[in-house]
Amino acid sequence: MTLRLAVLASGRGSNLQAILDAIAAGTLDAEVIGVWSDRKDAQALVRARDAGMQAHAIRPRDFVDRAAHDAALFGALDAAGPDLIVCAGYMRLIGADVLAARAGRMINIHPSLLPDFKGLHTHQRALDAGVPEHGASVHYVTAELDGGPVIAQARVPVLPGDDAATLSARVLGREHPLLLETLRWIAAGRVALHEAGIHVDGRASGPLQLAATDRFP
Ligand code: GRF
Repeated sequence: MTLRLAVLASGRGSNLQAILDAIAAGTLDAEVIGVWSDRKDAQALVRARDAGMQAHAIRPRDFVDRAAHDAALFGALDAAGPDLIVCAGYMRLIGADVLAARAGRMINIHPSLLPDFKGLHTHQRALDAGVPEHGASVHYVTAELDGGPVIAQARVPVLPGDDAATLSARVLGREHPLLLETLRWIAAGRVALHEAGIHVDGRASGPLQLAATDRFP
């Protein structure tokens, strides 16, 4: 089944681009039905329009409060009817009730090995903590910020001499294949959210780990 994706992005949009490129190359059985941003100037919107698709800015400042913004954004998303909502660098908090209604149908990519380093500035915090390994995680979105069940992770070493920029670039290079492989497994119906956590091929599972081949073993 071709997975119908709605993508939420606030900035650069390199993860969105990776999705668009994989679909164009025939390596991901999915369709991006629209891209939504909280910022008019998001590069992600330019990338979407360049690919010939619907791109929308729904700005919080145009609404009285977060609930009204959520209602507008998720009203538009529901009207589009995605199978899955992908947060790819979407930098806004979303109300708990909105998220609860979409449990198991919304994922986020976060640049750390969750549960470590939830929130912002993950690369600098990993360096400050002196961890030998860092990476990225794809998780189901719940009301707890970056706290939903982790579906999959990609790991990179922290190398001597790294700064936040070099570490961030190394992680980003693994984020794209991680997100694509996760989407392939979701599209194939191999991953689902259950009460107690994720199920892979019908069984309770810890996070899938991306191999050097860019696949899950
Ligand atoms: C990525 O590092 C993602 O993990 C984080 O925000 C960044 C977005 O990058 N949530 P891009 O906009 O996809 O290039």
